[in-house]
Amino acid sequence: MYYEDMLKEVLGAQVLRGPNMKNAPAFYRRLEQSMDVVRERHALNTTKPRWPDSVLDLTTSDFLSLNRTGRIREEFQRELASRGEFRLSASGSRTQYGNYDYLLEVEREVAAFHRAETAWIAHSGLLANMAVLEAIPLPGDAIVWDELSHASTSLGIKLSVAAHKVSFQHNSVDSLREVLASLRDADPGFRFGEKNILVCVESVYSMDGDICPLREFVQVVKEMFPAGNAQFLIDEAHSSGVLGPKGAGLVQLLGLEKEIAIRVHVCSKALGATGGVILCNRTVRSALVNSARSLTYSGAPSVPMVASIRAGYQLLMSGETQKEQAAIQTIVKYFLQTLLDHPIWGEGMDEGLLDVPLAEGWEDRAFHSHIVPLRTRNGHEHYLFAHLAMSNMNAYAISYPIVPKGTGRIRLVFHAHNTEKEVDQLVQTVADWVTEMLELQRSGSKHAVPRAARVAYSMGLSS
Ligand SMILES: Cc1ncc(COP(=O)(O)O)c(C=O)c1O
Repeated sequence: MYYEDMLKEVLGAQVLRGPNMKNAPAFYRRLEQSMDVVRERHALNTTKPRWPDSVLDLTTSDFLSLNRTGRIREEFQRELASRGEFRLSASGSRTQYGNYDYLLEVEREVAAFHRAETAWIAHSGLLANMAVLEAIPLPGDAIVWDELSHASTSLGIKLSVAAHKVSFQHNSVDSLREVLASLRDADPGFRFGEKNILVCVESVYSMDGDICPLREFVQVVKEMFPAGNAQFLIDEAHSSGVLGPKGAGLVQLLGLEKEIAIRVHVCSKALGATGGVILCNRTVRSALVNSARSLTYSGAPSVPMVASIRAGYQLLMSGETQKEQAAIQTIVKYFLQTLLDHPIWGEGMDEGLLDVPLAEGWEDRAFHSHIVPLRTRNGHEHYLFAHLAMSNMNAYAISYPIVPKGTGRIRLVFHAHNTEKEVDQLVQTVADWVTEMLELQRSGSKHAVPRAARVAYSMGLSS
């Protein structure tokens, strides 16, 4: 059974190893002891066994179903075959031998699709974000970022020589304004356009599923910095393929191409390929080539990698993925409607067992993201994860430090391949769990643990 493999691996990894390593070389013992600190919280990050397609998929990044249906593979094989006798490797960095015609041609095509001056293909979205932050802010400049930004942003910030590194409250226009005002007041360089500010946001936040108020942010920045020294970097990882015309992303959905200096798109998710794309003008591209060691001290992407990206973009550009884009919108709305209509919803909310922040005002939203977090009481996300797994559903529990303390959740990711029947099963399974938790609560037993968690503990923690 899938859930047995999954729970054994996740829970088995939490068993302390330091105590059994007294005679091992100190180098390894110290590493295990440092991980034991995390294991004590049952929070060691582990690899997971892959599950079969028969498990209800509420996790994968195959949002448009291009991977599971084989469409991206077919397109990729066609694309690769059209390359004839290609040389597989780039055989060098792009500042040396690796800057080959096919790579440049695909970049031009991708730039045109995104209505950008240039596109740069990086090995991954993570590296693309890191490279921009490494190269673009100059000494004395500032980086201002949304506090819920992806790890690639914080890694990039560590590489940066910027003098000021300040976060603002998640998606808050007021907080962004305050942070920018404090920079402008502290240093006249920002007021007079002698120092730059790079504002980092994401179109869809990967753990919260909410969408950036980009229009309002752009307005604030333009008003406060008329010299144009404050510009945006937007990570479109979760809107690539999912939002906007033919999946071109949030910036194009809002018609803000001219206002956003740098966009990072990710090919490893909806596109079903691999790699990151940096959209920017020629100045930013030259600065990346000059200063982003994370891009240029590395071999250029190989032909198969570029072909996989082109295959994904061909599917978007041809309009073939629009049906799937629409299917995601439909299934997310169906989930929200079904959950809110379920009789358990009110009591689950009142008792703090269920909360879906995105459910508030959902009917007024023009478009939805495919990520819908389902919050529960602190620590209960693990119980719910086990309960879903035993019902043949995969949706991971997300806890601190990935999300702020006290905001543990089950992260539901919806896809074009999710059906209404599956959503009905999901909602009923969540409702059954809430009912069980309420019964345990009413029984008055302080140490009572729900059924799925009891089974899980008996499987994993004693090994
Ligand atoms: C918001 C965000 N940015 C960047 C990335 C990194 O993308 P890639 O998988 O191409 O490295 C991810 C992937 O998890 C992401 O969620």
